[in-house]
Amino acid sequence: MEHTQNIDLTPIRVWDWTVRVSHWTLAVSFITAYATSESESLRLIHNTAGLMTLAAVIYRVAWGFVGSRHARFSAFLYSPVRAVVYLKSLTTQAPDHFTGHNPAGGWAVIGLLALALLTAGTGLANDLELGGSLVEKAHDVFANLAIAMVALHLVAVAASSFLHKENLVKPMLWARKMGQKAEEIPAGAGLVSALVFVVWIAAFVMWLR
Ligand code: HEM
Ligand code: HEM
Repeated sequence: MEHTQNIDLTPIRVWDWTVRVSHWTLAVSFITAYATSESESLRLIHNTAGLMTLAAVIYRVAWGFVGSRHARFSAFLYSPVRAVVYLKSLTTQAPDHFTGHNPAGGWAVIGLLALALLTAGTGLANDLELGGSLVEKAHDVFANLAIAMVALHLVAVAASSFLHKENLVKPMLWARKMGQKAEEIPAGAGLVSALVFVVWIAAFVMWLR
């Protein structure tokens, strides 16, 4: 659906405010939670960062249903076969270009959100003393699967940026990516929701801390 021929591509607004604010909240909070997980004295920071991760994932999943054009799951979930076809195109001179997430990236988004959710969910269950040692073990296992997926994510972002000759990190910061004019989202898309997101994160953390 969002597949474009590599013609008429100009910089357009693709990632709305909510996608960008939630992404960097997720990235910073997840890495902080991971980095502070081994230390008893940093437990408060660990739990707070982990709760921010949990709140960010829940919000992003909801946004996947009601968000702007390229933020919706329906815009970037393709069949696994399509993902393989896309990956094969990367070895050619003119890899298929997608304005939003590419078909392989779409599955990575699902994997990242699911693993972050499972990690933070088991962490919270653990903290609320629901579940016992099995949940504690699961929390550790999910955290390590999630960090492995993040490493893959970073390698894929770098590889994709290189192969498409298009830096993908900048659009996650400043919204603009190559695409066709007709696919552009409106100025200010997702801005009100991004402000609600900030309030939601704060309320969620205060509630469960
Ligand atoms: C600090 C290092 C990170 C960088 C530079 C980074 C970069 C990016 C970039 C460039 C994209 C857009 C990919 C595309 O164009 O299709 C993206 C998307 C995404 N990343 Fe990261 N990322 C980082 C850390 C993380 C972490 C730690 C997580 C999760 C635990 C994560 C989860 C996601 C998700 C869920 C998306 C999809 C965004 C959306 O549609 O809302 N990222 N990231
Ligand atoms: C999504 C981000 C999170 C990551 C990456 C993460 C990662 C980890 C890891 C790797 C451990 C094991 C440390 C060890 O070897 O002893 C751990 C322990 C723990 N985590 Fe998390 N965690 C996250 C979220 C949370 C949340 C949301 C909470 C609670 C609100 C939480 C509460 C705990 C507690 C209480 C422990 C200690 C378990 C124990 O060994 O008794 N975590 N976390």
